[in-house]
Amino acid sequence: MYQISPKLSKLGLKSQVSSAPMAGITDLVLRQIIRSYNSDVLLTSEMISSEALKINKNCNVIDTDDLQSPVAFQISGHKPDVMTIAAKYLEDRADFIDINMGCPVNKVVCGGDGSALMKTPELAYNIVKEVKKNISKPVSVKIRLGYTFDTMNYIEFSQLMQEAGASLITIHARTRKQMYSGSADWGKIADLMKEIDIPVFANGDINSIDSATECLEISKADGIAIGRGVLSDLSLPHRIDTFLKTGKKLPEPTLAQKIECLKKHLNNEITYRGENVGIKFFRKFYPYYISKTRNASALRGLLVIEENYNRIMEILGEINCG
Ligand SMILES: Cc1cc2nc3c(=O)[nH]c(=O)nc-3n(C[C@H](O)[C@H](O)[C@H](O)COP(=O)(O)O)c2cc1C
Repeated sequence: MYQISPKLSKLGLKSQVSSAPMAGITDLVLRQIIRSYNSDVLLTSEMISSEALKINKNCNVIDTDDLQSPVAFQISGHKPDVMTIAAKYLEDRADFIDINMGCPVNKVVCGGDGSALMKTPELAYNIVKEVKKNISKPVSVKIRLGYTFDTMNYIEFSQLMQEAGASLITIHARTRKQMYSGSADWGKIADLMKEIDIPVFANGDINSIDSATECLEISKADGIAIGRGVLSDLSLPHRIDTFLKTGKKLPEPTLAQKIECLKKHLNNEITYRGENVGIKFFRKFYPYYISKTRNASALRGLLVIEENYNRIMEILGEINCG
């Protein structure tokens, strides 16, 4: 059994497990399903552009409900004043304001946001300091190991974030240059654990109970953040949390249970976004849910172009769940 660290407890957390932010994925609906399994894991919103929020406060990425807590709302940007406005606007609905300093995609880093901030530590410091000064909720920061292998600065950078007032670091153990290639280097996080006082969530390639415990053992981190792993099993954060707390290994969902979850997820997206948009929005999720079916690629081909709800249900009904 794994004991939650006093550092995490002090932040009000009851779990060492968090669900990592994923743009276009971790919307309110997906977070609600993760929450339906477990009330303790830390949820994280999709990335919210501070600049976009300045113009439009009605965007659905900021939607929430009463059961979301503990939840972090993640903001992106690089202007301390604009980031502060966004953080202040979101703080009432958040337990943490998370600052994105890890996103590797070109359109984000070209503007100086996301992992580009690891190349401008002084600016990153100012953002955290300014946001922290103006809100009453803890500020967390999500980083990578560095921009490139040769400029890996995650230790000094995290120390700087701590000095600026950050309460928690989530670290994806790859560099920006790696994007998602290679493997997450959890061992590097162990070096960070010796150098900072604030708690750390290790992130990257955690997709099972075994990989979660292996990551905790290697990294010595206070907790773990799960990104893509939730896509093939929305109960994974719960199963990992249960194992860490009790030593009990809940079984992986069967294919039939996955299809039931798929239907619930799809139906909830339709209720949330309307039928046309909901069906199209959901297309990205099919490959994960049906990956274990016998004819996954043919099924995927059918589902990702189907616009008719009844027909989608028929196709799902034909899946042999053995
Ligand atoms: C589709 C997708 C969207 C993502 N969006 C965000 C984001 O909005 N903010 C962020 O900090 N990281 C984002 N990430 C990175 C994840 O939070 C996580 O760091 C990464 O996927 C590695 O963890 P994993 O191996 O558990 O997936 C995204 C990743 C994916 C695959």
